[in-house]
Amino acid sequence: MKLTLKIWRQKDAKSAGSFVTYDAPDVNPEMSFLEMLDVVNEGLIARGEEPIAFDSDCREGICGTCGMVINGIAHGGLRGTTACQLHMRHFKDGQTITIEPWRAKAFPVIKDLIVDRTAFDRIIQAGGFVSVNTGGTPDANALPVAKTAAEESMDAAACIGCGACVAACKNASAMLFVSAKIGHLSLLPQGKPERDRRAVNMVQQMDAEAFGNCTVTGSCEAVCPKEISLDFIARLNREFGKALLKQK
Ligand code: SF4
Ligand code: FES
Repeated sequence: MKLTLKIWRQKDAKSAGSFVTYDAPDVNPEMSFLEMLDVVNEGLIARGEEPIAFDSDCREGICGTCGMVINGIAHGGLRGTTACQLHMRHFKDGQTITIEPWRAKAFPVIKDLIVDRTAFDRIIQAGGFVSVNTGGTPDANALPVAKTAAEESMDAAACIGCGACVAACKNASAMLFVSAKIGHLSLLPQGKPERDRRAVNMVQQMDAEAFGNCTVTGSCEAVCPKEISLDFIARLNREFGKALLKQK
């Protein structure tokens, strides 16, 4: 395949960026999107040019680092698929592909396609955990969990923290991410003792990080590679409202 790539190049957080056009004349349709970028980078390095900086780690859809906007859609628009799992056979020979980083105030660009997503880490630090006393290991069956609660919790736990939901939202809202984390923990008995504190602290941290509010457009759900449901946002709103009432 022969492709034309328009890629966002930005030297560092302080510099202005712009799109630069590259030819990719020999792309194998079975390559992943990141492998295609690797090949482009090999060519740039061979010519003594600066390679394109992008994030990746697992390259199998589980770590959430590889986020980028491809032709205007976070992760490229193939349902339930991260950029690293997207293959070039989904594009057409001769196509022009535009590649840019997540665009959100809370995710400043560090370099080229890499953004700073530590705002998500700080939201998790504010309450996205379960406190456990040290001591003997409890029996695995000592704490029964209803099957429906376990399944719903695991659906939420599928969130990989990639940030596509923020990138797709016109308000740059992080509600789908936060609701997945809160849903995952508060549905399980182990997460219930801290549920009120967790909901208030995580939402307050989300606001402090300059993420926007949710206006239920559903763009987050549409691009989420783990297909996290908007229902978790409704659950979060109930959880947060109840916690505030109890605080009064
Ligand atoms: S909710 Fe989906 S899009 Fe948002 S961070 Fe989690 S996996 Fe990524
Ligand atoms: S590189 Fe880990 S999810 Fe894409």
